[in-house]
Amino acid sequence: MLNIVIFGPPGSGKGTQSKMIAEKYNLLHLSTGDVLRNEIENNTEFGIIVKSYINSGELVPDDLILKHLYYKATEYEDTKGIIFDGFPRTTNQAEILDKMLEKRSDPIKLVIRIEVDEDEIIRRMIGRGEDSNRGDDKENIIHKRIKVYKEQTYPLIDYYKEQGKLVCVDGMYAADKVFKAICRILETCSDNIGEEEIS
Ligand code: AP5
Ligand code: MG
Repeated sequence: MLNIVIFGPPGSGKGTQSKMIAEKYNLLHLSTGDVLRNEIENNTEFGIIVKSYINSGELVPDDLILKHLYYKATEYEDTKGIIFDGFPRTTNQAEILDKMLEKRSDPIKLVIRIEVDEDEIIRRMIGRGEDSNRGDDKENIIHKRIKVYKEQTYPLIDYYKEQGKLVCVDGMYAADKVFKAICRILETCSDNIGEEEIS
């Protein structure tokens, strides 16, 4: 299996790039944000609990996320690989993910960090907020999400650097150019991507 983490601040393009990577290399895109928003849309018990965290820009507590994801992950046994988007977001989540994947002998192979200036991510999220239904794309909540990212998620850069898995991509370019750079990295760093999947 080819397991990859797409890492970056809110609005850096994790979802945009993950979708394209998943389609090109036939991998499964697992976005915790999308999973949670889906629960909210369906008004499930879990959705009702997590809504207040998301709409205030806070992370959903680790115990809730991990329990839910554990069940989700069991649905994905047969996939060629997973792109984790928006997960892990804390060191605790990263350690638990490592343990979970260790048991299956399918560790994270690469962590692709998308680097984008803060002014640009704010501009992108405000732009999207004009017509998205996301309750967290409001300017004050965007600032909160960035603060939470710096405090709780940014330290994962060192965690993955120490594991020798971190690669960086300049995310300031147009999405298709960023995607080309990611494809080059994947095809250089991974011996798990077969030629037949590369169009
Ligand atoms: P999540 O859904 O993961 O949101 P996020 O990390 O805040 O990031 P976004 O989804 O807003 O941005 P993105 O990086 O995916 O960029 P995108 O491609 O959309 O999490 C939301 C909330 O859920 C969290 O705050 C938390 O409450 C909770 N949560 C989720 N996971 C959790 C976890 N593991 N633990 C605890 N809580 C968790 O692009 C953004 C915009 O820019 C789009 O409009 C796009 O079209 C545009 N764009 C993309 N690329 C480019 C480009 N290259 N140039 C110009 N525009 C671009
Ligand atoms: Mg996203």
